[in-house]
Amino acid sequence: MADSVSPSAKIDTSVAHPARIYDYWLGGKDNFAADREAGDLVLASRPGLRESVQANRAFLGRVVRLLATEYSIRQFFDIGTGIPSANNTHQVAQAAAPDAKIVYTDNDPIVLAHARALLTGTSEGVTAYLDADLRDTDALLAQAAKTLDFSQPVAVMLLGVLHLVSDEEDPWAMVAKLVAAVPSGSYLVITHPASDLLPETQSEASRRYNQNVATHQTLRPRAAVARFFDGLELLDPGIEQWHLWRPDPGQPVDTELKSGHAGVARKP
Ligand SMILES: C[S@@+](CC[C@H](N)C(=O)[O-])C[C@H]1O[C@@H](n2cnc3c(N)ncnc32)[C@H](O)[C@@H]1O
Repeated sequence: MADSVSPSAKIDTSVAHPARIYDYWLGGKDNFAADREAGDLVLASRPGLRESVQANRAFLGRVVRLLATEYSIRQFFDIGTGIPSANNTHQVAQAAAPDAKIVYTDNDPIVLAHARALLTGTSEGVTAYLDADLRDTDALLAQAAKTLDFSQPVAVMLLGVLHLVSDEEDPWAMVAKLVAAVPSGSYLVITHPASDLLPETQSEASRRYNQNVATHQTLRPRAAVARFFDGLELLDPGIEQWHLWRPDPGQPVDTELKSGHAGVARKP
């Protein structure tokens, strides 16, 4: 476990952090006692959570592969990247298109500490990491423009991160700014934990999360997630639970599972 790793001075191991709890739920090793305790408290109230976060990673893999192969996307802007895990965006994208460019961004110092693992891309492609905050969207875009060519299509990926921005901070305005910065033919990819699937269970799980985690979460209903895609063309099947969004043919689908809302849309 990460307790044996010498953390940088900026990493506060005494309080649970979203990136590290998520790593714990995924079965990773880059988490601390506070993360595991907070993570267990949530897990106890939310059966299926581990399967749901794993399904979120599987969705990431399916969509990046789809965009790289069938839609010829060569630039991926992955915001709220998380601690490196299996099938990181650059690995999936560059397996399909070795010349793909990937810019990762996270605001948690633990992700920065692991960024080297994200910067192992192909020699034909580019992989960059920004220690930056989604909420400072203008600065984020300015930094990303040093690597990404915003005159060419970009897949803007916001997986499991918008629920960590409150309604008061207006995540819809942030997404609108990101979408405005990319040209026609770009894609927006979102996954967002749901308040309207298993509502009572989710509400209790969220209460427990917010009790102990440094950054609070706001679960949202489908309609609020749909608003992120205003003005864009949703790919089939529209907004769907992420484990049901175009599952790989031949792969078993867990029909009992409730995951969260996911969508992929093209900028016309
Ligand atoms: C639940 S993890 C999701 C990781 C990955 N995107 C995935 O779906 O597998 C959320 C990540 O978003 C990051 N994050 C939270 N708020 C952020 C912000 N305002 N700006 C950038 N990253 C943020 C957290 O540090 C964490 O690594």
